Order: sequence, then structure tokens, then C-alpha cells
Amino acid sequence: MALHDPPGRYVIEGGQPLVGSVRLSGAKNLANKLMIASLLASKPCTLQNVPEIGEIDIVSGIIQATGAHIERRAETLTIDPQSLNQFDLRQVTSNRIPILAAGPLLRKTGRAILPAPGGDRIGLRPIDFHLDALTKLGAHVEQQGRFYVLRADRLRGAMIQLPFPSVGATENVLLAATTAEGVTELRNGAIEPEILELVRFLCALGARIERTERTYVITGTRELGGADWTVMPDRIEAVSYIALALATRGEILIEQAGLAAIDAYRPFLDEIGANYELQGSDLRIRGNHRQLRATTITTGVHPGFLSDWQQPSAVVLVTATGDSTIHETVFEDRFGYVRDFRHMGAMIEVTSGCSPVPCRFDGKGHAHVATIHGPSQLHGTELELLDIRAGMAHLIAALAAQGTSVLHGIHHLDRGYGTGLQEKLTRLGASITRFEH
Ligand code: EPU
Repeated sequence: MALHDPPGRYVIEGGQPLVGSVRLSGAKNLANKLMIASLLASKPCTLQNVPEIGEIDIVSGIIQATGAHIERRAETLTIDPQSLNQFDLRQVTSNRIPILAAGPLLRKTGRAILPAPGGDRIGLRPIDFHLDALTKLGAHVEQQGRFYVLRADRLRGAMIQLPFPSVGATENVLLAATTAEGVTELRNGAIEPEILELVRFLCALGARIERTERTYVITGTRELGGADWTVMPDRIEAVSYIALALATRGEILIEQAGLAAIDAYRPFLDEIGANYELQGSDLRIRGNHRQLRATTITTGVHPGFLSDWQQPSAVVLVTATGDSTIHETVFEDRFGYVRDFRHMGAMIEVTSGCSPVPCRFDGKGHAHVATIHGPSQLHGTELELLDIRAGMAHLIAALAAQGTSVLHGIHHLDRGYGTGLQEKLTRLGASITRFEH
């Protein structure tokens, strides 16, 4: 455990097939952005189906630090931005979100002081695209140690071409350009389902945004109204339960699975020979019927295989027959979990040579390709969770393994899936106990 990590551990008795049905929470990577977008509004916004997870507590802290009013009742959040009068976010807990507040704070106060982004350590994660884009929109940006100081009386529309379709940079431009003066053309933007939903929300507030493939045209609007919005189901959580059913040889019905958003996962399920069935808007996944086959995964931007899906899928591939490859092309350092998987009995190598096709990390020495030799029977052991998605992979591996596992660093799971995760898993038959120390 790292020195300053909060204590707490899960003890898991693995080896039981998980069986039952599960309801997905609202998407973390949409709810947090809708909260920031609400700061642009001039009237209260109500967000429904907001997941009860640590990430939302962090973003609530950011909203409060701006002086805006926020109220939470279970999965409903109301944000009233009319009292927003602070631009200094130096004291907030920093994840990937404060930098996205640049546009709303500049619009409302003409200034913003933002901490350098924190979040999971899964690569270098610079914010150069964000800063270049904000500068093009007319912000004066200055770095002062760990903080960014931004000023602008009014942002102005600009032509922005992203070097890579970054999720965060696309969202930042959308948020900043919505109330800028004139027209912004954003090229090579990301088109993840959560971003398209953020665009719909902004349009419901009164924004004018059009999109053709990866190009967004944003016509600035001075004043936005308010809106009520329901957060779509979390497609990363959906894949976690798919992987859980497959890896534990169980059977799980995922209610309201948000099937369109996991469309890009279905070729993987077909290639490994997984048994699944669409039942209306639900998905039934059976891990108890067939031997799974090895395959090759290359992660990518939407509509590709989401980088956050590779970790739970790696557990599935450990149980599949043959040699599988995972080529991670979005983040350069997302295989930290492999060390623990090896301790559990998995046979995995991580190398830097691109396979099967070169990506932008080619020749840079990043350990971004994993080869999994399956099948292996995992056995329980002590595990150190490293980040949200790797943490979920650890959890699935522990539930699939024979024997007892102790998971340290569970604050990562609390941030991404909430403490309600334990209850969901228990209902599926998992033996999982939480200790706070
Ligand atoms: N990049 C740059 N410069 C930038 C911005 C990005 O070089 O200014 C690079 C990154 O270093 C990375 C690539 O572009 O190599 C993609 O990064 P992106 O900006 O798309 O990722 P993000 O916005 O930081 C979000 C999610 C991640 C998810 C990725 C990819 C949030 C809060 N985070 O990160 O989710 O993996 O998009 O879909 O939305 C998670 O939920 O656990 C998580 C890590």
C-alpha cells in the first residue's frame, strides 16, 4: 500500500460462479462532465441517475469551491450555478475534472486558477491539447508551479485541430466554445457515447452544436438556460459484469445494459465464443456453457475497443484457451496489474513492440502490449489495486480464483464504483467482506 493511501481492504473467497441480475449505475465519465457543464447554465440543472461513487464526491467538492450550490438526494443532484463567484480551485482534490472547469469559470468570472490534473497513473497524461485549445480560444494561460492561471474577458471562436481525438480535450473545447463569441470548428474530436450525450445536454441548455463525424461546429451563445437530465448507464460497468460472468463461469442478466454503447464490445464476445443473448434492452451473459477461445484486442478511440475495457477482458482471456494479445494504443502504461495476475498464476508477458500493427507508441519503449497464454487457473493471494479499471480487473480475478484474496487500495474501487459495489456482488453470490483497516 502506498504511504498516503486510505486504509481498507476487501477479503474475497473466490471460485464461485456469480449468478443473478444487476442494474447498472449511471456513467461516471458522463455524470462528472454534466456536473461541470451545469456551471455554464443560468438556471438550476437536475441530474438523475448520478452514480453514488467517490468520483462524484470529488466533483461535488469542485462545484462547491466555485460558489455554486449543489444538493444531493440519493441518485439525484441539483446544481444551481447562479451563485458561482469563485475562480480559484487550488484547494480542490484534483482528478481529471478541474481543467474542464476552465470554460465555465472564464465565462462567469473571467478568471480560473486550476490545479494540474491528478487521476489514475496510467500514462503521462499531459494536458497540452487542452491548453493549446484554450489559448486558441483567446484565454491567456500561465503555468505557476502546479497550477494554471487563466484569464479571458470573453473567449472567441477559433479553428482547433486536435492531434489525437482526446476525450478530455474535446469536452474542454465543447464546454469553453459553447458560450464563446462566434463560431468554433473542432476537428479530430472524440466521439465517445458520453461525449455525444454531453453535447445533447449542452444543446438542451441552449447551446448550438453540430457534428459531422469527428468535426464539431459550435456557434457561441451568450446565455444558457437550465435542464433536467438522466445519466445513461455506465458502459464500463456493463463490461465489468460481462467479464465477471465469463471469468467465474456464472450467468448474469444485465438490466438496461445500454446496448448501443457496448456495441463495440460485441465483436470481442463473438471472437472468444461467448454465449450471450439480447433480451429487449437487457443482456444475458452465460459463462457456464462454452470453452472460450483466445483472441487479439487492440484498444482505441470510439468506435474502437475502449481502453477501460481491456483490464476486465484480460481476466477473461486468462481463462480462455490459446495465446491472446492486448495492444493498448490509448495510454502507454496500463498493464501495471499484470504483476499481480502473474502472482495469481496467470502466464502473461508485457512488451513494448507493437502487435499486430504499429501504433503511435511504436519504438518509444512503452510496455503497452500484453500476451496472455491461457487457460490458467488463478489462485487467491494479496493484491494491490493500482487504479479504477485495473482495480476492477483485480476484483474479477479474485472472484474467479480458487481460495482467498485480500485486496488493498480499494479506494480506487470506491472512486469508480462506490461502496455499493459490495452489495451488488453479494447479491450475485460473491463472498466479499470489507474491512476498514
Ligand atoms: N493526451 C495528450 N494531451 C492532452 C490530452 C490527452 O497527449 O492534452 C493523450 C493522453 O495522454 C492519452 C490520450 O491522449 O494518451 C487519450 O487521453 P484522453 O484525453 O482521451 O483521456 P482522458 O480524457 O484523460 C478519459 C477517461 C478515462 C478513459 C479515457 C479514454 C474521464 C474522467 N476519464 O480520460 O477513464 O480511459 O478518456 O476513453 O473521462 C477511468 O474512468 O478510469 C478512466 C481512466
